[in-house]
Formats: sequence, structure tokens, C-alpha cells
Amino acid sequence: MNKITIAIDGFSSTGKSTIAKQLAKKLKYVYVDSGAMYRAVTYFAMENNIISHTFFYKDELIKRLDDIILTFKYNTSLGFAEIYLNNVNIEKEIRTLGVSKLVSKVAEVSEVRKKLVEQQKKFGENKGVVMDGRDIGTVVFPNAELKLFMNASASKRAKRRFDELIKRGDQVTFEEILKNVEYRDHIDSTREDSPLMKADDAIEIDNSDLTLEEQFDKIYTIVQEKLKTV
Ligand code: CDP
Ligand code: CDP
Repeated sequence: MNKITIAIDGFSSTGKSTIAKQLAKKLKYVYVDSGAMYRAVTYFAMENNIISHTFFYKDELIKRLDDIILTFKYNTSLGFAEIYLNNVNIEKEIRTLGVSKLVSKVAEVSEVRKKLVEQQKKFGENKGVVMDGRDIGTVVFPNAELKLFMNASASKRAKRRFDELIKRGDQVTFEEILKNVEYRDHIDSTREDSPLMKADDAIEIDNSDLTLEEQFDKIYTIVQEKLKTV
């Protein structure tokens, strides 16, 4: 059967990476979490005193971009690829609220986007890829055979993300997560370079009232229909 490219975009915490991982597993495709790449660059900038909540030395980050080597390595027990920054696994470090608070500022920088988009396009050269992010259907894979645009109410999304962080032992409040989700949505959809928007040919899925199982069934049906046409 011919392989396709599946591009999944949407607002923060809408379940993009969950469905992307499930589809990749079911179809035996490669899953790429493009948000992890922006988070990794942000983590690098934080570790190197280039960004904090009081300063952002953009030019310094741009100068240091060649020092950032990002790779994904498949973890068989997890069933998906984890991200490495200069050969160090940083999968856990990039998921903190601290990184979430700064990542959208880093993702506004065109030089950062250019570097990451170039690498993302390469991942898709042989098709058979599911990638999630903000500009996948519009910029990275404008010719993707299937584009999904995920949405859910901000309070549902914040609650889901809050539960996830509490479960892993992070000390956060629901209010600060909600604030972060809304703040990132605003910057991500109003920035000049590659703002988050639904591609004209994307299928919109609102999963506010869908369980993970219902969401998978709905989307997998769409995928199967698409696969019949290629
Ligand atoms: O999982 P969550 O919705 O919290 O975010 P993410 O997918 O990990 O992405 C983190 C941030 O990276 C987003 O809020 C965007 O600022 C940025 N991003 C982007 O600009 N373009 C992408 N293709 C993916 C992420
Ligand atoms: O990748 P993105 O930030 O869009 O979201 P995610 O990490 O896939 O999902 C955020 C959280 O929402 C996860 O804990 C999912 O299990 C949960 N979720 C849910 O409970 N019901 C859905 N229909 C979708 C996501």
C-alpha cells in the first residue's frame, strides 16, 4: 500500500501527539514531535543563559544555532522516538512548565524556524510519517495527503495538561497551566513567521467531548478512507 504523509496541527494540549503516536504505531509510520524540537532549542537557550523570564538574547541564540544538534532515537519500550540534544536524552527536561513559558518566544525567531523546518522536511522525504505541530500542514508539508487540525476548549486542554504534570510530580496549579495554554495559543497564532492556522484542506476535529478511544476511532476511519484513494 502507498504510504502517505499525515500532518497534525492545532492549539496547545489538544491531543495532537497522542493521536500522532497512535497512528504511527498502527500504520508502522515514523512519528515526529516537532514541538519537542522547539522545546529542545528553548532548553538549550535556558541552560546557556540566553533566555529567562527577564531576558532573551536573540542574537546570541542565532549565533549558537549550529551548536544545537537534535536527533530522535526510537525507544522500543515506549514505542516512540525520544529527542536528544547533542546526544543527551532531554525528553523529560523539555516538558516542564518552565520550558512551556518560554518556548513560544523562541519559536517566533525566524532563524530558529528555518533550521528546524529544514530538518523536519527531511524526515518526510520518504513519506510514511506522522508529524504534529503548528505549521506542519501549512509550511513543513503543504502537500501532505492528510491534514488534521485539532481543537478543544481551553479549560479542557488545561485540565488535561494539568493532570499530566501532577501525575509526573510537578508542582503546578491549574490556573498557571490555563494561563500558559492561552498565552501560547495567542503568540503562536499571531506571530509573523508561520503562525498557527488551519490549512484550507485540513479536517478540523474538536475533541472537547471525545475520549481518547473515540478520538482514535474517528480519526482512524478518516485515515483508512484516505488510504483507499492513494
Ligand atoms: O504539546 P504542546 O501543545 O504543549 O506544545 P508543543 O507541541 O510541544 O509545542 C511547544 C511550542 O513550540 C508551541 O507552543 C509553539 O510555540 C512551538 N511550535 C511551533 O512554533 N511550531 C511547531 N511546528 C511546533 C511547535
Ligand atoms: O500534543 P498536544 O499538546 O496537542 O496534546 P497531547 O499531549 O497529546 O494531549 C494532552 C493531554 O490530553 C494528554 O494527557 C492526553 O491523554 C489528553 N487527552 C485526552 O484526555 N482526551 C483527548 N481526547 C485528547 C487528549
